[in-house]
Amino acid sequence: MKKSILFILFAVHTTLIYAQQLSIIPEPVSVQQLSGTFVLKNNFSIGLSSPDKDSKRVGDYLAKKIALATGYTFTTGKIEKSTSIRLRLFNSKKRNAELGTEGYLLNVTPDSVSIVANEPAGLFYGAQTFLQLLPKEIESKSVVNNISWSSPCVQVKDFPRFAWRGMMLDVSRHFFTKEQVKQFIGEMVRYKYNRLHWHLTDDEGWRVEIKSLPKLTQVGAWRAERVGPWHEMSAPTADEPRTTGGFYTQDDIREVVQYAKDNFVEVLPEIDMPGHSLAFIASYPDISGTPGKYEVNSGERIIDWSLPGHPALIDNTISPANEKTYEYIDKVFTEVAQLFPLEYIHMGGDECSKNFWEKSEAIAQLMKKENLKDMNEVQSYFVKRVEKIIQSKGKKMVGWDEILEGGLTANATVMSWRGTKGGIEAAKLGHSVIMTPNTYAYIDLYQGEPIVEPPTYSMLRLNQSYKFEPVPEGVEPKLILGGQANLWSERLINWRSVQYMTYPRSFAIIESLWSPKENKNWNSFVKKVEKHFERFDAAEMKYSTAIYDCIFKPTKDTEGKLQIELGTEIEGLDIYFTFDETNPDNFYPKYNSPLSVPKDAVMLKVVTYRGNKQIGKQINMPIAVLKKRAKIQ
Ligand code: ACM
Repeated sequence: MKKSILFILFAVHTTLIYAQQLSIIPEPVSVQQLSGTFVLKNNFSIGLSSPDKDSKRVGDYLAKKIALATGYTFTTGKIEKSTSIRLRLFNSKKRNAELGTEGYLLNVTPDSVSIVANEPAGLFYGAQTFLQLLPKEIESKSVVNNISWSSPCVQVKDFPRFAWRGMMLDVSRHFFTKEQVKQFIGEMVRYKYNRLHWHLTDDEGWRVEIKSLPKLTQVGAWRAERVGPWHEMSAPTADEPRTTGGFYTQDDIREVVQYAKDNFVEVLPEIDMPGHSLAFIASYPDISGTPGKYEVNSGERIIDWSLPGHPALIDNTISPANEKTYEYIDKVFTEVAQLFPLEYIHMGGDECSKNFWEKSEAIAQLMKKENLKDMNEVQSYFVKRVEKIIQSKGKKMVGWDEILEGGLTANATVMSWRGTKGGIEAAKLGHSVIMTPNTYAYIDLYQGEPIVEPPTYSMLRLNQSYKFEPVPEGVEPKLILGGQANLWSERLINWRSVQYMTYPRSFAIIESLWSPKENKNWNSFVKKVEKHFERFDAAEMKYSTAIYDCIFKPTKDTEGKLQIELGTEIEGLDIYFTFDETNPDNFYPKYNSPLSVPKDAVMLKVVTYRGNKQIGKQINMPIAVLKKRAKIQ
């Protein structure tokens, strides 16, 4: 008895010691690390139990990825005694119910690697986990020599918590090419995301070719070139070229959708309406309720966000009181439904300003005719008609949580973005919900000290994203399909900035969508994130290191004087500071308690270190900014 307890303690202890060295994101359901390693050798072989094309594609994917960095040759074929990497599907009569359609078992022994799943998607995710067990150099895009390509021996059982694990990419505010969109997909699947929500239209550009409405891309896809603070830029002049933007032809869309499918990703198209529709109206002004000449937005201010109901300065809505609107929408969704195989279409529905509707005679008549008592009911009338159109194409409708306002039909799926309250309300009404709360999942927001981060609307640090819990208390879990990280692109000028905003926060979101809730742990997550930074370096990918930077917490003391508390998002860092305007290093004063500002000082300079190595950015913080934050005159 005693012996067996000792043995168990030893086994658990050994597992824990080993387990600390693994850095799998998202954290699997269960991992057991065993002694020994598997070493991948030249002329390795990948064997498949099933000749179906999806399994074969997973085998090829894994082989090519390994070959790229190792330079090794490989063979693929049936599983034999000598096969090094074995991909096996359960026999249809012996499926493993616990694994579902995306789960897998991964068994790495000194002799071989075995991935077993019910479906090819599971093999794909097992392959992703295996790749994360190999040295970081496996991420290199060219051959790396003199590496032992070894993986620790493990037994992993893994399957996702949610079926919907999405990332939203906004290609309207800034256009990204089809190759870049494919790259985005290729990167997100490394972390087991499986839905791309493609935000294809907005005030700043219409990005999908609609053959029956050619002006949408002839006119709506193009705007004047601007660089500068978003929504403070100048409106286009009459003689200025409209050459910034672009669109996807229908062939491009099919290519991206196929690429996504090949990577086990489904694509949700979003056509945003009735607000956010300036590109639509610039192309076809007859569907505006406010006659005038319209331009695709080039970054100028068109909405006053400081006022209740955020009144529009230019009417960027399509008119719910105009029958032409529904004719055009029908044409759009006819073609969109044919391009995207997913059962859902997203119709937007967010942030619709109603001030122009309030002044419209046509809307007043519609209200009378349809017995609509306020603008929310007008919006709801519109949403219900759009839902009918979407359903007539054989699809189900998804919309942002504003579609609840004024009443919603039973079948719509709600995407909760204004925190979780829309999702809670929708689920209580029995709707399916996709959780994308801006309080946790808006990865377009700045992720560290705003004076050194690219400016956006507000703060969302990694540790806050890590707290994302898709099922709010009191909500029926079955109704939560899953969640998404949303990447809006107002400030995403180029591809490096896309990666910078996406990582590491999308690591945090995926642990909430894939991993069991009880397996999440911030401290071990951070250690894994740092390991993945090294992998990103090998891949030459961009990521944000904001977790290493100093955090400023200015307050007013009892006499109304500024007190500055400093901190860091992660443990184990030291902060060095100075008020004397030189640049601090680790020979400067180390922060250990709140600071008072010396007389006449105008700048606090800080820098973070781990041991004797600088790790965070030097931040030069004006005292005036801290006073403003602490509300000191
Ligand atoms: C949104 O962020 N306007 C859905």
